[in-house]
Amino acid sequence: VAVLGLGRIGSAVADLLASGACAPHLEATIAGALVRSADGRRATTPFPICTEPLAIFDARPDVVIEVLGGLEPARTVVLEALSRGIPVVTANKTLIATYGDELFAAATRFGTPLRCEAAVVAGVPFLGTFAARPLAASVDRVTAILNGTSNFVLSRVDGGVAFEEALADARRLGYAEPDPSKDVDGSDAAEKLAILVRHFARLSIRPSGIAAESIENVGPDEMRAARALGGRIKPVAVAEWSSPDLGCFAGPAFLPEDDLLGGLGGVLNGVRLERRGSAAIHLIGPGAGPEVTARAVLDDVVEALGGRQQVGVGALPRASVGPPASQGYFVTLRATSLPDAVDVADLLAAHGVWIRRWDALQAHPDGELRAFLTFPCLPDELLMALRALAAASACAATSRPIVEARRD
Ligand SMILES: NC(=O)c1ccc[n+]([C@@H]2O[C@H](COP(=O)([O-])OP(=O)(O)OC[C@H]3O[C@@H](n4cnc5c(N)ncnc54)[C@H](OP(=O)(O)O)[C@@H]3O)[C@@H](O)[C@H]2O)c1
Repeated sequence: VAVLGLGRIGSAVADLLASGACAPHLEATIAGALVRSADGRRATTPFPICTEPLAIFDARPDVVIEVLGGLEPARTVVLEALSRGIPVVTANKTLIATYGDELFAAATRFGTPLRCEAAVVAGVPFLGTFAARPLAASVDRVTAILNGTSNFVLSRVDGGVAFEEALADARRLGYAEPDPSKDVDGSDAAEKLAILVRHFARLSIRPSGIAAESIENVGPDEMRAARALGGRIKPVAVAEWSSPDLGCFAGPAFLPEDDLLGGLGGVLNGVRLERRGSAAIHLIGPGAGPEVTARAVLDDVVEALGGRQQVGVGALPRASVGPPASQGYFVTLRATSLPDAVDVADLLAAHGVWIRRWDALQAHPDGELRAFLTFPCLPDELLMALRALAAASACAATSRPIVEARRD
């Protein structure tokens, strides 16, 4: 195998191969590896190292493992491998979310396997499983926690820790990247959601078209208010589709406390697959980490060498993305002195927003805080209602979508 990238994942792949853990399913040696700088650290590496991307083919690999990250040179080398009939395994969600159409179309054209199990919830091997089981995979809604760092951070915030401190803890424990912005702002989850839409809805979407919200302004007071109303705030990604509409969201959302995904703490990831009229399927496990990711990568190598093509290949129809259907909102109001609940309810109702449940008024460092849940309403109705409330009473409002499993 050729390994593109010898960072956390590439090194774990090399270690796992060297340990013999893959026998008897896979007997492979590393024919060569691509890195950015072949400095002294790599003087003792027991296989050839190169820094020129296309030079990796001089090693004549049977399989290419792409764990570089980013778009280039990953895209160029993957396309070159596919055109040469060399199967490719990648863990690179950015690459697949951005160039999935082009890469899977090339895989189909050249009849070469391209697999990406480790790109989404690396520790739970489900993409390949569902790709081979089209009836089980015919779902119309995916709800997931796809980013372990943001789940860890919000779990700490739920325990009363401020956001900045929780993020510093994630960095100290090695869960967060040196630059965690893609974890925090929802764009990492949006890329993974785009891959899930590709696999389950068989639609192609741009990750940048998904409305993504940051977890940055979720604080312990909002978490307490959510708990008082029977839920939790979690970093959730949702996609639902029914021809011709596709609705997606990635960001902090209110989950009822009996929701299986709502109960996932720390760095755990989870995916719920729903189909109207059927019981939901839940998949739960580690989303990242060098060893679990390396195992997913090498299992993909075993499958690719077995000749099984990943379903979901080829260019798929492009879809535009709107918001998912509203299940209501969790709203928190803060002001020096909040208006009476009855007045708030009247003003919101005048804009088509109906309150389902109130929490008690709480003291807050800036004055008062009060939270409530609404019945389903349009995002624009909520926006206009909260603007009118801010104009009438100078209160600041934060809203999170309610995300619930279907009860039908
Ligand atoms: N970390 C996880 O837990 C995890 C989980 C699932 C999926 N993934 C995915 O796996 C991939 C790799 O992640 P990682 O954490 O292993 O990344 P990483 O530690 O940053 O390693 C990247 C490796 O790629 C090499 N590289 C980067 N750009 C290059 C270029 N232009 N030319 C040649 N070599 C280049 C680097 O070379 P140098 O060493 O010389 O800098 C390094 O060896 C990413 O797509 C990531 O999203 C990661």
